[in-house]
Amino acid sequence: MKNSLVITNLYVETKDGKKILSGVSLTVKKGEIHAIMGPNGGGKSTLAQALMGHPGYLITNGKIELNGTNITPLTPDKKAKLGLFLGFQYPVEVTGVNFGSFLRMAINENKKSGEKKLSPIAFRNELSESAKELKFRDDITKRSLNEGFSGGEKKKAEILQMVLLHPEFAILDEPDSGLDVDALRYIANTIQNINYKFGLLLITHYQRLLHYIKPDFVHILVKGKIVKSGSAKLAEEVEKSGYEKYASNL
Ligand SMILES: Nc1ncnc2c1ncn2[C@@H]1O[C@H](COP(=O)(O)OP(=O)(O)O)[C@@H](O)[C@H]1O
Ligand SMILES: [Mg+2]
Repeated sequence: MKNSLVITNLYVETKDGKKILSGVSLTVKKGEIHAIMGPNGGGKSTLAQALMGHPGYLITNGKIELNGTNITPLTPDKKAKLGLFLGFQYPVEVTGVNFGSFLRMAINENKKSGEKKLSPIAFRNELSESAKELKFRDDITKRSLNEGFSGGEKKKAEILQMVLLHPEFAILDEPDSGLDVDALRYIANTIQNINYKFGLLLITHYQRLLHYIKPDFVHILVKGKIVKSGSAKLAEEVEKSGYEKYASNL
């Protein structure tokens, strides 16, 4: 299907055979925000990593299609080129890799052949607006990727990457964890100011972020299965009643 990310009956296990996801199906269309909520250990991050192609997770059944192309077996770089983006729950520190150069190279690498690559100066212009919106300190791009970044800066850095890469579909894995309310507002604003249609899969443990970014659909993932889907109202319900009642039926 055009303009959509379609996940069909996805089964995922670890390399050593631990089964984590059992039959996840989900369709995200461009212009839609889907929130995935659930208790710790439910499989949210596994879903995110498996979608992007983390080599530690095996897809044993099911498929992932992006704009009608079967991307299930592709490596993360190929998926990125086709327009998929993942913002990590736990971004890693990479000493010696300059954040600014990393961003510019990632953007250039993702450009289609024939498209003009960004020069360092053009890049700086492109960067400055989003960096300002996220209230980054000026020197942030001069530092090593995530090295010595505060928890909030690491999360904002993921959002900055997303904004600059212009993905067609983005998965953000708990972009809100560890953020204070101000930082939460900045990332919510930045996401809302994205001025083209893209699909967003927003993984969050708490409802807090959803006060700022209204999802079109909410899915509850428990023990590797989507046990309930609904509108934004479902997130409010969960905030009141917790996840336990969903878990006890499995
Ligand atoms: N690489 C791995 N090796 C072994 N177990 C894993 C691995 N990744 C995830 N798990 C297990 O799978 C379950 C789901 O984890 P995860 O996807 O991180 O859940 P969530 O993000 O919803 O908290 C947990 O029980 C976790 O310990
Ligand atoms: Mg997680």
